[in-house]
Amino acid sequence: MKEQVQNASGDAGTPLLAIQGLRTWFETDRGIVRAVDGIDLDVRRGECLGVVGESGSGKSATFASVMGLIRKPGRIVEGSIRFDGTELTSLDDRARRAMRGRDLAMTMQDALTALNPALRVGTQIIEVLRAHDQAASRSAATARAIELMQLVGIPAAESRIADYPHQFSGGMRQRIMIAIALACRPRLLIADEPTTALDVTIQAQVLDLIAGLRAKLGMSVVLITHNLGVVAAYCDRVAVLYAGQVVELGPTAEVIAAPRHPYTEGLLRSLPKLEDLDHPIEPIVGQVPDLISAPEGCRFAARCPHRRDSCAAAVAMRHVSPGRQVRCVLAEGAAP
Ligand SMILES: Nc1ncnc2c1ncn2[C@@H]1O[C@H](COP(=O)(O)OP(=O)(O)OP(=O)(O)O)[C@@H](O)[C@H]1O
Ligand SMILES: [Mg+2]
Repeated sequence: MKEQVQNASGDAGTPLLAIQGLRTWFETDRGIVRAVDGIDLDVRRGECLGVVGESGSGKSATFASVMGLIRKPGRIVEGSIRFDGTELTSLDDRARRAMRGRDLAMTMQDALTALNPALRVGTQIIEVLRAHDQAASRSAATARAIELMQLVGIPAAESRIADYPHQFSGGMRQRIMIAIALACRPRLLIADEPTTALDVTIQAQVLDLIAGLRAKLGMSVVLITHNLGVVAAYCDRVAVLYAGQVVELGPTAEVIAAPRHPYTEGLLRSLPKLEDLDHPIEPIVGQVPDLISAPEGCRFAARCPHRRDSCAAAVAMRHVSPGRQVRCVLAEGAAP
């Protein structure tokens, strides 16, 4: 199995993950939900990429596609997903399974449903370890599980390894999911809303933990979040998703300082400002389009204050400056 998924080139210049033209649709009674509808996105080696966008914009569906976790009524309709040069969409289930955990791992949005309530957390970590290394003895796997729980900051790991998920707080359950995700030292960690359910101090602890582990283990991280403040603090680059497409992509500091897509502008305006707490938050007016019948042209047009006639035709991503792309007719083009 190993030779199948390993890549000859560990080339530092190529992205670790390259998603091209990805479409992942769900067939429902109402019609086809185009949850992911033409996503192009790279994750570079060692970087932390933030992925933001309103609820339903396709963040989880994009990365569930990367993980090979899309199940009926969903399917990848089109596109390419390459991990370190290996095309994932053409691998069979066995090969995909072998890569999960070892090459790519994802922590799910909801720790309580992602963990098996009937199994002790230690057992769940050990299962992952032994699935990838059958030669590992039970005692070695147990020792490693305790080590992982310590690594993610769970106090009294030696005794808590025998506890069930419901015996942990929300923050501790998130940490256990991270421990499971890290068990086989993945090269890419996808953290889907790792902190939404947590209070602010625990949020910071979990994010600091992920950042620390990224530095220590040299992995790449995708941080999916609603929170642009989190992106600003932790991510090198950010991808803004809207209605199943990337609408803006670039270095975090640049995108936040000078957003080029009206949707990104709107997102930033809707953030409360610490220095100006009296200033009212301006939510973006209007609704996300129905993904069953999304408009052919710009999907944000109906809510956009700068809308014009040319927005009715399909808009491709444009390079606006080195490393920055925007899907908007108003964005002035530049050489990539
Ligand atoms: N199993 C499914 N069956 C039908 N539709 C689905 C399914 N899973 C996702 N979708 C639809 O795909 C779209 C994108 O969902 P996705 O979960 O990727 O959004 P998201 O950006 O992760 O949102 P959130 O911020 O709420 O987590 C939504 O319209 C959702 O209703
Ligand atoms: Mg989601």
